[in-house]
Amino acid sequence: MRREIRAEPYRIKMVEPMTLPSRERRVARMVEAGYNPFSLRSRDVYIDLLTDSGTGAMSDLQWAALLSGDESYAGSDSFYRLEQAVQAVMGFRHVIPTHQGRGAENVLLSTLMPEGGKLVPNNMHFDTTKAHVLHKRGEPVDLPVPVAYSPSVRQDFKGNMDSEALESLLSRRRADVPLIIMTLTCNSGGGQPVSMANLREVSQIAGRYGVPFFLDACRFAENAYFIKEREPGYAACSIGQIVREMMSYADGCTMSAKKDALVNIGGFLATNDPALYRQATVWAVLFEGFPTYGGLAGRDMEAMAQGLYEVIDEEYLADRIGQVAYLAERVRLAGAPIVEPPGGHAVYIDAGALLPHLKPYEFPGWAMSVALYIEGGVRAVEIGTVLAGRKAGTGEHDHPRLELLRLAVPRRVYTHRHMDAVGDAVAAVVEKKRQLPGLFFTYEAPVLRHFTARFGTLQEWPG
Ligand code: F0G
Repeated sequence: MRREIRAEPYRIKMVEPMTLPSRERRVARMVEAGYNPFSLRSRDVYIDLLTDSGTGAMSDLQWAALLSGDESYAGSDSFYRLEQAVQAVMGFRHVIPTHQGRGAENVLLSTLMPEGGKLVPNNMHFDTTKAHVLHKRGEPVDLPVPVAYSPSVRQDFKGNMDSEALESLLSRRRADVPLIIMTLTCNSGGGQPVSMANLREVSQIAGRYGVPFFLDACRFAENAYFIKEREPGYAACSIGQIVREMMSYADGCTMSAKKDALVNIGGFLATNDPALYRQATVWAVLFEGFPTYGGLAGRDMEAMAQGLYEVIDEEYLADRIGQVAYLAERVRLAGAPIVEPPGGHAVYIDAGALLPHLKPYEFPGWAMSVALYIEGGVRAVEIGTVLAGRKAGTGEHDHPRLELLRLAVPRRVYTHRHMDAVGDAVAAVVEKKRQLPGLFFTYEAPVLRHFTARFGTLQEWPG
C-alpha cells in the first residue's frame, strides 16, 4: 500500500536566499533581455522552472560522498562505486561515465552508426538526441502512439511507442535501422511515461529483427513510479524491481545524471553487450576522457552513485511526482489548459489554446513565457515554434503541432508554497490573456535560435 505523504520527505539544512524583484525591475530586465528569458540573469528570477536538469538539490549523503572522491586518472575507486550502483540499480554490466547525457548519446551513436543515411526510431526524440542523429547524417523518426498529440486526452501511458508503426518500418527498412531508442519518460511528449507492456513489446520486435534496443533513461525512476501506480500487476512491486525489469528489456541505456541521478552534472552509457562496450570505449576516450572518469571528477561519480540509490526511494518519488501534480492542479485552477495528465517532471501549458488570438508565427508560447516572468518572476521554457526553428528547404517556420510552455520542476528545491506562487503568476497571466501581444524577431541566429534570439512586441506590453 502507498503511504500517505503529508509533507516533503526531507528537511532543509542549508538555504539559498532569493527574492522577487519588483515588477518595475522585472519589466526592465525583460526588455534588456530582448524578451528572451534565456538572457535573464538567474539572480533576477524568483522561481526558476526553466529545466529540471542539473538544478536539483543534493542530499547530505551526496555532499558527504563528494569528499571521498578518488581523483586518479585511471582506475579510480569512485568509478567502481558508480559502476556498482549502475549494476545494482539498473542491472547493466558495463558503464562508461560521460560529462552529461548528450556525451553518452554521442558515444553510442558514433559506435552504432558510423555511416550516414540511417533511420533511428524513438517514441519521441529529445532535441539533443535528434541533433546527434542528424549530426551522424541519420534521420530521426518519431513513432509515438497517436494520442501523444492530443493534449486534453487523459491516458496512462501517452509516452508509448506505436509498435505497429515500428514493425512496419522494420519490415520495410530493417537494413537502414542501426538501433531503436525509447525515451523514458517522453520529455518532448509532455513527460509522459512508457508502460512495461510497451517496453516488452518493443524489445520483442527489436529482438525479432536483431536491432539493438537502447533506453534514454534520464527519468527512469519517475517512469517506474508511474508503472507502479498505473499498470496492472505492479502495485506490489518495489521501484527497484520495476526499474530492473524495465532495463532488462534493453541492451543498454544513455543517461543524463542531471535528472534521475540527482546531481548537477554527469551522465553515462551502460550496456550488457561486451563487444559494444569495447567499441564505445574508443569513442569515449576521444570525446569524453579515459573510461574510468569520462569527463567527470571522481567526486562527481561518488555523488552520482549515491543519487542512483536515493532516486528509487518510493517516498521520494511520491513527493516528487505529487509536487508536479499539485502544480498542475494550481495551473488548472488558474484557468490555463495543460497537457493531460501531467507528466513526471513538468507541467506543460497549452499556450496555443490559451491565447487563440495569437497566430503560431506570433509565438504564443513565447509570449506566455515573457508574461509569466513579468507577472510573477517565474521562468519557464517555450516548446513551440521558436524552439522548433525553420525548415531546411523553404526557410519557413517549422510549426510544431502544439504551442506549449513547459514548467519544469527541479528536484528537492522548491516547496508547495513556491508552487502556489507559480499558480498565482499563471492566474495573473490568464487575467490579461486577451491583451498579451505577439512577438517578432529582431535577432535570429541560424541554428538553435531560441537561446540567443531577441524580440520586439507587436503591441505595447499590458501594464
Ligand atoms: N534526453 C532527454 C530526454 C533529456 O531531457 C535531455 C536533457 C537529454 C537527453 C540530454 O541530457 O542535458 O545531460 O546532455 N534535457 C534537459 C531539459 C536539457 O531541459 O529537458 P544532457
